[in-house]
Amino acid sequence: MTSEATGGESGRDSASEAGRYATGYHAPVLCKAVVDGLITDRSGIYVDGTLGGGGHAAALLDALNENGRVIGIDRDEAARAEVQRRLAPQIRTGRLILLGGDFRDLESHLDGVGAVSVDGILLDLGVSSRQLDDATRGFSYSRTGALDMRMGSSGKTAADIVNDAPEAELAAILREYGEERRARRIAKTIVAARPVNTTAQLADAVRSCVPIAEEIKSLSRIFQALRIVVNDELAALESALESATRIVRSGGRLAVISYHSLEDRRVKRYLRFGNFAGQPVKDVYGNVQTPWSPIAPRLIRPDAEEIEFNPRSRSARLRIAERTDFSDRESPT
Ligand SMILES: C[S@@+](CC[C@H](N)C(=O)[O-])C[C@H]1O[C@@H](n2cnc3c(N)ncnc32)[C@H](O)[C@@H]1O
Repeated sequence: MTSEATGGESGRDSASEAGRYATGYHAPVLCKAVVDGLITDRSGIYVDGTLGGGGHAAALLDALNENGRVIGIDRDEAARAEVQRRLAPQIRTGRLILLGGDFRDLESHLDGVGAVSVDGILLDLGVSSRQLDDATRGFSYSRTGALDMRMGSSGKTAADIVNDAPEAELAAILREYGEERRARRIAKTIVAARPVNTTAQLADAVRSCVPIAEEIKSLSRIFQALRIVVNDELAALESALESATRIVRSGGRLAVISYHSLEDRRVKRYLRFGNFAGQPVKDVYGNVQTPWSPIAPRLIRPDAEEIEFNPRSRSARLRIAERTDFSDRESPT
């Protein structure tokens, strides 16, 4: 691993920067912008709530000094095994603490390792390239496998949902979490095609009822909707953002990379207003009180070179905010 201090033009990830921490498992997105934006104290404690293949964690560890620590979490056992292998020396020296579980339980994870407050948290949402590429995980409409989609190993699979949910509930899921306007027609077709147990069977059902020109978009939306529900992704995100407000010290930072508008809308509102309703909270003098202050630029996207190097980065949106000293931690949601 190259030892690389941060610095230079803030936020810009050229193709070579983007590739520096990439492995066959996953290429970390907007890696330099994350490191530059998140680290305010090189001896600090940082949480990577979505370790994946450990690319961002490796870059953070390289940018920290010997006293700096990363606490890394992933709910996927295969991701943890990858990080265990890739970052074995850092785990051995205690610079990386590797934890299994859901980032929605951020506070209990940190309690467990005696960290009361941290200097920064990274959430790089969604799935890794390895999860997408592994047909047995069932995340991809272009690879045939069991319709699973669980990031962890417990709970309902996508097949359970498409086979058991009443048609109206299935349509509501596809509309709400996939923002699919043909949700009713697609739900009806899926119900008629039951049992639907593989990614290919689901993809065929979707293809049979949407225009050819819309196929790819509809397939992406339907697979996205089911993945969100299977992993309860939006509730986990909201819970982690609220925990971050209680955990990150004043002046510390939160960086979130989202990949679709349902995530990004929540992140944007929360970092701006401290709640998900997008309502400004004012003190008796009319001053807006918010636990987070977005840092400029408010939205960071991959440049053309990074997208060419890693086409999966194209939908990424990074937002970084600094914890203010506003201490009313019971802000409305
Ligand atoms: C986009 S990948 C992260 C890639 C990582 N930043 C890297 O550099 O390799 C997202 C990872 O977050 C994990 N994940 C998603 N939701 C999670 C949650 N609620 N709790 C814990 N891990 C989660 C997934 O299992 C996946 O490994």
